[in-house]
Amino acid sequence: MSIAQHYNELAANYENIHPLREEAIAKIVNYIKANSVTGLTVDFGGGTGAMLQAVQAAVHLKPEQLLLIDLSSGMCAEARGKGIKAIQAPYEATTLPDASVSLAIFHESIHHTQDKLQLQQELKRVLTPQGRLLVFFQTDWYIEPSSDVLQKYVFMARKNRKAPEEVINDLLGNQFPLIKREELVSTNTVDLQFVQDAILNAALSYWNKIHIEERSSDVGKIKGEEFALIRKIACFEFMR
Ligand SMILES: C[S@@+](CC[C@H](N)C(=O)[O-])C[C@H]1O[C@@H](n2cnc3c(N)ncnc32)[C@H](O)[C@@H]1O
Repeated sequence: MSIAQHYNELAANYENIHPLREEAIAKIVNYIKANSVTGLTVDFGGGTGAMLQAVQAAVHLKPEQLLLIDLSSGMCAEARGKGIKAIQAPYEATTLPDASVSLAIFHESIHHTQDKLQLQQELKRVLTPQGRLLVFFQTDWYIEPSSDVLQKYVFMARKNRKAPEEVINDLLGNQFPLIKREELVSTNTVDLQFVQDAILNAALSYWNKIHIEERSSDVGKIKGEEFALIRKIACFEFMR
């Protein structure tokens, strides 16, 4: 299945399985306010547009100052339904004019890059000379209260995870000087159904290393009603 098909299938339910990242929204909002960003802000691989919608509500930017680019038609439709302008395109080939983007955001999307040289060239082309790049990359997640079953999946995820610097330096090729790296933490309250689905999906994304029968059996062993989903995110700020 292609990436676009995968996200088309997820689009309508995406926000149920990925609760809003208040810490990333706050970071973007503070950045726009502190730097008086009045030009175009673009969310690359922006998904359902929930994040840009929250940013718009907080900073009162005009609709034409915000844009979302996503490969998936289903994701673009979700964003347009929220009043967010969306272009369905690969972010490596955006169709945007030269030097038109003041702030480029990648929130858990840059790892999907298929052609890194094309991405570097495209970002150099579309960013204004003073343009900035904010790249958010999840570094860890866990669920509390924990249990042996939950630990098993969290450890598997940790074992297979690459350092964010490694992934991002590879994709951006040291083309963009780093200004700052920050650690952010998000906490969302989630229910049992969420945790069960997350365990199945997390295991799936780590290459089916745990067989579906074992995962289904593990899911039945998780007890509780309310959990905290804790996610750690590294935020990198780059210059053009
Ligand atoms: C994990 S989701 C993150 C969505 C959103 N940024 C968020 O944090 O909720 C990754 C998104 O990137 C999009 N995507 C993947 N590869 C892409 C590409 N080459 N160009 C544009 N969008 C892409 C997917 O369609 C999907 O919506």
